[in-house]
Amino acid sequence: MSFEKEIKRVTTKSLSLLKKKGIKISALTAYDFITAKLLDEAGIDVLLVGDSLSNVFQGNETTLPVTMDEMIYHTKAVSKGVNRAMLVVDMPFMSYQLNIDEAFRNAGRIMKETPAGAVKLEGGRRIADTISKITEHGLPIMGHIGLMPQSIHKYGGYGERGKTDEEALEIMEDAKIIEEAGAFALVLEKIPATLAKEITTSIKIPTIGIGAGVDCDGQILVTPDMLGLTTDFHPRFVRHYSSLAKEINEAVKDYIEDVKNGLFPTDKESY
Ligand code: KIV
Repeated sequence: MSFEKEIKRVTTKSLSLLKKKGIKISALTAYDFITAKLLDEAGIDVLLVGDSLSNVFQGNETTLPVTMDEMIYHTKAVSKGVNRAMLVVDMPFMSYQLNIDEAFRNAGRIMKETPAGAVKLEGGRRIADTISKITEHGLPIMGHIGLMPQSIHKYGGYGERGKTDEEALEIMEDAKIIEEAGAFALVLEKIPATLAKEITTSIKIPTIGIGAGVDCDGQILVTPDMLGLTTDFHPRFVRHYSSLAKEINEAVKDYIEDVKNGLFPTDKESY
């Protein structure tokens, strides 16, 4: 049996072993029970209840509006569909930036009120002390550097990060600082593939890339994007593995036509 098949439940330890063995880590986002169940049954390693739920589930322009209560609500739903994957939850904007105690209290809330296996925080050196404190108390943290959508108003757009030598160096240093602070894994978002490769070989914890090239230890995508449900978002790092928006549109049109023409339900579909 392959190592991956032997894993009954993915943990921080399994992710570390996957990196050591050179086996890539697969990760996707989930916001509801039914999708989580489908992704888990397909064998995904990590399911992230991303704060991208603000965009793709709630229809907001940015990730900023989503609240702690909403993240917890969705995590509870997602968790019911998960048997094998490691469940990671994004700490939403302003749940960890104010001060370390507030961050610890909110991380603790997620871990206490849901069956999550870890929380994810965006930020480099400025949150190193926060990561140290939370991990010292036994709560696993996944870091997230490069493009950080919670800082979108500072950047003024969703462009690639780390293009200048200065910014690339800052991101590389941040990766090492986050590892040192105690994070068990690190998301690298929208940075040059060469930089992501350098980071991946320079730190021991697994890197999970989104728009960061093939040399990361794993890859993550926003599920509605990769399933072709989002029709107005086409960054080049998203590959469409399905065209669900089109399929749903056709299915609903067929249904409407059948209803309008009295073709649904038939006798067999009635009581
Ligand atoms: O919120 C999210 O979906 C994320 C992933 C894109 C990494 O942070």
